Amino acid sequence: MALPRLHTVVLVSGAALLTRRALKRRIARSPLWPLPALPEPISGHSKRRATAVRKLLITGRTEVAEGVVQLRLEGTALPPWSPGAHLDLVLPSGLVRQYSLCGDPADTGAYTVATRLVADGRGGSREVHEQLQEGLEVEVRGPRNRFPLTEAPGYVFVVGGIGITPVLPMLRALAASGAEWRLLYGGRSRASMPFLEEIEKLGADGDRVTVVAQDEAGHPDVAGALADLAPGTAVYCCGPEPLMAAATAGLPEGCTLHLERFSAATGGTAGSERSEAFEVELRRSGRTVPVAAGQSVLAAVRAELPHVAYSCEQGFCGTCQQRVLEGEIDHRDELLTDDERGDSMLICVSRCRGGRLVLDL
Ligand code: FES
Repeated sequence: MALPRLHTVVLVSGAALLTRRALKRRIARSPLWPLPALPEPISGHSKRRATAVRKLLITGRTEVAEGVVQLRLEGTALPPWSPGAHLDLVLPSGLVRQYSLCGDPADTGAYTVATRLVADGRGGSREVHEQLQEGLEVEVRGPRNRFPLTEAPGYVFVVGGIGITPVLPMLRALAASGAEWRLLYGGRSRASMPFLEEIEKLGADGDRVTVVAQDEAGHPDVAGALADLAPGTAVYCCGPEPLMAAATAGLPEGCTLHLERFSAATGGTAGSERSEAFEVELRRSGRTVPVAAGQSVLAAVRAELPHVAYSCEQGFCGTCQQRVLEGEIDHRDELLTDDERGDSMLICVSRCRGGRLVLDL
């Protein structure tokens, strides 16, 4: 009597397996299959970026310098972070903007960010300054860290204005550990430079901090700050593009340079003139979309999947990074590491070298 029952079980299991495989093949191949995107990547890898959105309560709002507002965002079970990390803020209009965490990583109940009002900017900072008030909730993603503090025998920081935000937690950590560090900190005026008092205290045990206010002393001498550095020194730079260009040009041999961009590099490859049509298969969604010459992969993908996250559309923030399952990528950003370029791309600027890409979307 046991044998027929076993036979039935084997038959049913086999049929279920075949149906599952057929369904997966159908999802993978048919551009017409009307299922929504599967929630998890099918590549066998976990999602590389922290994409979960959480709502945090604004419990503090302080003006920490002229035109600079600091927000304390409280929540529970917040993911840990390390100096250099940033948070994506999903603003009330839907704009997504990146802001460096400038608080204390040991404060596990809140994140702290600071943002300067850029009156002629793209609208993100204005929205933060005008709409994000105490008592409101704001959606965030992350944190992520593309600007981590690495092991080095010594550190030099070259910072302009609000670029101090990712650097401040680094300075606190280095000061606490007794590491060798120096900071060149430039800004329009002392009143416009956030966290000046704390930074000068952190560097009070030596000639570590040089503050250059433009209205008193002009522009900071980046080449001078980088001259005669010991080999192996890690140079960190965050600020306006000319400052980053000066740090890049003045980097001594044997030192490493770490840049944090919040705007596109001048002369970057984003928006390159080479722009041919191709198609993109969205494997998890079971759809294929054409990408026209001159159209970004992001625009083509969002026509099918409007929830796909993006922010800068210029290849510097990393929000639109997606895993590539097949196809040859034409990378046109300056953000991803060589390792990341192996199997992912920034779909706002990068394209395809062949006729077809397959994304894990
Ligand atoms: S949206 Fe910022 S890198 Fe693509």
